[in-house]
Amino acid sequence: MCGIIGYIGQKKATPILIQGLRHLEYRGYDSAGLAVREDGKIKCVKEVGRIDNLANKLKQSDLEGTIGIAHTRWATHGGVTQKNTHPHFSCDKKIHLVHNGIIENYKEIKNSLPGHKFVSETDSEVLAHLIEKEYKNNGNLRIAVEKALSQVRGTYGIAVIAEDEPQKIITARLGSPIVIGIGENEYFIASDTTPILPYTKKIVFLDDGEIAEITKDNIQIFNIKDEEIKKPIEKIQWDNKSTGKQGFAHYMLKEIYDQPSVFEDAIRGRIKLEEGTAILGGINMDNYQMRHIDRVIFIACGTAFHAGLVGKYIFEKLVNIPTEANIASEYRYSNPTIGENTLVFAVSQSGETIDTLAAIREAKQKGAFVRGIINVVGSTIARETDGGTYIHAGPELAVASTKAYTNMIAVMILYALQFGRLRKLTVIQGQEIIKALQNIPAQMETILKQSDKIKNISEKYKNFKNFFFLGRGLNYPVALEGSLKLKEITYIHSEAYPGGEMKHGPISLISENFPIISPITKNDLYEKMKSNLEEAKARKSPILAIATEADESIKDLADDIIYVPQTLNILEPLLNTIPLQLFAYHMAVTLGRDVDKPRNLAKSVTVE
Ligand code: AGP
Repeated sequence: MCGIIGYIGQKKATPILIQGLRHLEYRGYDSAGLAVREDGKIKCVKEVGRIDNLANKLKQSDLEGTIGIAHTRWATHGGVTQKNTHPHFSCDKKIHLVHNGIIENYKEIKNSLPGHKFVSETDSEVLAHLIEKEYKNNGNLRIAVEKALSQVRGTYGIAVIAEDEPQKIITARLGSPIVIGIGENEYFIASDTTPILPYTKKIVFLDDGEIAEITKDNIQIFNIKDEEIKKPIEKIQWDNKSTGKQGFAHYMLKEIYDQPSVFEDAIRGRIKLEEGTAILGGINMDNYQMRHIDRVIFIACGTAFHAGLVGKYIFEKLVNIPTEANIASEYRYSNPTIGENTLVFAVSQSGETIDTLAAIREAKQKGAFVRGIINVVGSTIARETDGGTYIHAGPELAVASTKAYTNMIAVMILYALQFGRLRKLTVIQGQEIIKALQNIPAQMETILKQSDKIKNISEKYKNFKNFFFLGRGLNYPVALEGSLKLKEITYIHSEAYPGGEMKHGPISLISENFPIISPITKNDLYEKMKSNLEEAKARKSPILAIATEADESIKDLADDIIYVPQTLNILEPLLNTIPLQLFAYHMAVTLGRDVDKPRNLAKSVTVE
């Protein structure tokens, strides 16, 4: 997904912009460019491929300017070419802009600008020409941007500079995030906080329909009615140490290893052992309201949906109320039935996933209580829900989500404790769960210590072209998540099924060329799962089992075994998923994949 960074202050803009683009690389891109105001002119340099290509090109033109904008492009409209790379500019090249989002009516706008010379195939470029037209009419950059944006259908996060307004950046958002960093006599604009944190932790989050006019000394923010408004300055706790690789080969591996420590961050200060409960104040409901919730719905996409599926199982076991997990892109168009005591949780690492955002807007529209289980502080979904809980996983930069998944589940367990103890869950049961939770980080560490063994196992399987992941009960969402991890970073096809589904069709595919990977830990469904694997073994399918420590009988069945510590059934996904994360990671490295930025994928899907 595209990235934006802008700077206005006393320092040379170019190095700040290039460093900012490098912090945005994790979002996935295929070209990059920047525009800096220099000697009264705006100079624009673009290059396809990696940021290094742009940096090398810039060596030939040492730009001294202290105001600039930059962009990493992930191609949507138009191929990967220099002409399609942002920044885009007006006919007279006096106005330059960078844009995230989609201009749905760009063809109509283009046709309404006869005589304008368009040089790219992109939708974004029409905005530069529309602003140029409006600027010629009124000579005020912010007003020109407002009038141009009022003619747009679609989504945007933009930053605009103009030669005739030398010390100014205009930025605006609708559906595509824009954050503003407040420094000492300098300001930063970006599509997320990551590139800003090395300079300042004081952040202002623009909301949809808002526009900001930024000079070296001042920032003014206006709402959709063009009224100046005051926005809170938030302090982001993440530091740029937590955004580096810290010696790991990839962000993904670092984030897999972050899990024990960030898990502790997720539960710290949120449990009360003596009462066997959790205290998540962000729920913004009193005990009466919580007791009267009669239905819970988790709404999410991808890995977050798999966490939501775990949440469904956990809520039904601990709280005994009907609970479901829904894929946001389906839910948003399903005309859902919402009761007056329905609680909807939006589950999202980025807090910007457009389908999840649209789905909770629909749920709110129909009267649900809507709360967030989110990682990125101040993100759009976090600000559009009426409360919720941050998962404290820290910046997750690898496209493949790992630590956010386990921390989402941690928060779901805390919510289930909090709600369950207001109903039938006893204090002893609550205390048992809390004690088991407190053991999880150490148990995660024992699994992480097996990384080399898992690497060796993954090399045995690297030439297979298809996999099944099979699990029952809480191990079914584990199988789904393991399958997604493998697909998205190794590009190998895999499917996840509930173990009992094999007989209903998929078993026809089983052969010695079709391995089965199965989380089959000791729980009430162990024997059932074992018989499913026996059916696969009878058809010579290679089997990799994720099994409970000291399970000897699994050795008769599995070709390879990764052992995990015993924990409560409801906590098993927290442990059983980690071997599958490492299996996919090592396989991807062996296959030479771009592990942190897999092809075709973006870290946050903010366009439909
Ligand atoms: C997971 O590895 C993927 N990167 C993807 O499925 C992701 O979980 C999904 O896009 C949801 O993102 P979110 O948690 O930021 O909403």
